[in-house]
Amino acid sequence: MPRAILVDPTVPGCLALGDTELRPAAPNEAVVRVRATSLNRGEVRAAQGAPAGTRLGWDVAGVVETAAVNGTGPAAGTRVVGLLRAEAWAELAVVPVANLATLPDEVSFEQAATLPVAGLTALYALDRAPGLVGRSVLVAGASGGVGHHAVQIAVAAGAEVTGLVRQEAHAALIRDTGAAHVVVDGGGAAAAEFAPYDVVLDGVGGDVWAAALGMMAYRGTIVTYGGGMGASAVPFDAVALLGKQLTASGLIVFEETLRETAAAGLQRLVRLAASGRLTPLISLQADWTDIGSVTQQLLDRGFPGKAVLTLS
Ligand SMILES: NC(=O)c1ccc[n+]([C@@H]2O[C@H](COP(=O)([O-])OP(=O)(O)OC[C@H]3O[C@@H](n4cnc5c(N)ncnc54)[C@H](OP(=O)(O)O)[C@@H]3O)[C@@H](O)[C@H]2O)c1
Repeated sequence: MPRAILVDPTVPGCLALGDTELRPAAPNEAVVRVRATSLNRGEVRAAQGAPAGTRLGWDVAGVVETAAVNGTGPAAGTRVVGLLRAEAWAELAVVPVANLATLPDEVSFEQAATLPVAGLTALYALDRAPGLVGRSVLVAGASGGVGHHAVQIAVAAGAEVTGLVRQEAHAALIRDTGAAHVVVDGGGAAAAEFAPYDVVLDGVGGDVWAAALGMMAYRGTIVTYGGGMGASAVPFDAVALLGKQLTASGLIVFEETLRETAAAGLQRLVRLAASGRLTPLISLQADWTDIGSVTQQLLDRGFPGKAVLTLS
């Protein structure tokens, strides 16, 4: 019987290893032996209120154990990375081939495990503002899993990137990514120094979103993908918008895969990672048996970048 991480409200972090059933694969699904997965803030938060036995997990990196029976997708034995809406935290995962990209040897399973949710969110947010060459981009929450990817992808696309972080200790990490500027300010107002911004990516919300909105260039684009880190309803001076013609939108990564398959998006990210233009920041790597402690550290924001679990 394969093991998986299950919600267990009686333990710290509400997640623990347990036995589970492997659901039968549909004709367009492959079975993947998972070698690494990662934790995202959203799924860890969801675990805190979910019923016992719930199976979560979005990010899969591993090897195809059984190819899809309809003959599509990667063959058995292929290294892959994939996106799931649930049940990725398991020894075996059933993944639609439309969500699976092949993984070259240059990209480790651990690096790949950071790409599905965090990498795709960054990539798809930047897709909302095509033509980044020479544009100024502000990434708010640059030290987070999504933000760290976003800074690097925007740099690779030719933008002049400003990373906004709230902890001085995380500033150097963002400078190392090739960002032109790093601003340390939990409220975001200090990012005005390098405004106006053609594009803002915001994973923080609240005061940071309101501050950034006032720093936009004419016809700028602001994309929100996160929030809830502080107050979500904040005052905003609408006069700052006069004459601006901004585009403001919110993004949910799973909905974006209706526009482009996760397989295609992941293949783009894998290409960047294989060529060294995207280096995931893995601050915490642990065996999946340590799930309780890793969960707590993520909830406490005890590290920048990503936490990756390996399956022994
Ligand atoms: N819509 C979607 O599909 C989607 C997809 C992925 C993520 N998300 C959401 O996007 C957000 C970021 O995701 P993530 O995975 O990057 O999370 P993460 O790794 O936990 O990073 C959170 C980021 O927000 C910063 N932050 C936290 N509290 C803050 C505050 N009070 N003021 C200023 N900055 C603050 C953190 O800075 P420090 O490093 O200083 O703590 C860090 O840069 C989360 O809310 C997540 O749920 C949404």
